Amino acid sequence: MSDFDLLAGMRAAVFDAYGTLFDVNAAVQRHADAIGPQATTLSEMWRTKQLEYSWVLGLMGRYEPFWTLTERALDYALARHPSVDRTLRGPLLDAYRDLDAYPEVPGTLAALRTGGLRTAILTNGDRPMVDRAVASAGLAGHLDAVLSVDEARVFKTHPDAYRIALDRLGVGREEVVFCSSNRWDIAGAAAFGFRAVWINRKGLPDEYGDLAPAAVLSSLDGLL
Ligand code: LAC
Repeated sequence: MSDFDLLAGMRAAVFDAYGTLFDVNAAVQRHADAIGPQATTLSEMWRTKQLEYSWVLGLMGRYEPFWTLTERALDYALARHPSVDRTLRGPLLDAYRDLDAYPEVPGTLAALRTGGLRTAILTNGDRPMVDRAVASAGLAGHLDAVLSVDEARVFKTHPDAYRIALDRLGVGREEVVFCSSNRWDIAGAAAFGFRAVWINRKGLPDEYGDLAPAAVLSSLDGLL
């Protein structure tokens, strides 16, 4: 539990998708035996490169669908792990399309809505990618909106990406509680003016100290 009411005055609860609602490591975990001892480093490099590509393109003022970046990042990670069987590329991408939601996600979303908040995803994932993830995890019925940065063709942490939530939900930035397990995303959301809650699932050390979260929780359970 947090030490103050994180939801006081809030009208919308907006969530990052990958790593926050969906377990991005689940794709590699499903094939961990076939991958072998390098499964963890492969998964971490895949994720790190996927994000790096989004920021590098963003600084150039360019945009490509996040799924394309996800494929390129896996190709790079596989090239850096030559002992891993390359025929796993297809199965790994298939697993990434249909990631598991963390167990507390459906119940938390349902409770937030019962409490009168609107619920939404705001993700760097492109429209087809996030729609499929939401459907396969069975979350569609718990969300008022599924928002992709596709609309603005700019990745988080650009302010125009966070602004999508205001335009589409019809709320002010001071009325949004934004939850992400990604500390860089929390920095962006705090800079934008959201009440940013870091879901620090892995107990990682803090960073971006001057762009602090309003609260740090170990899972979404602490929101309620
Ligand atoms: C998201 C990823 C990048 O925006 O975490 O969902």
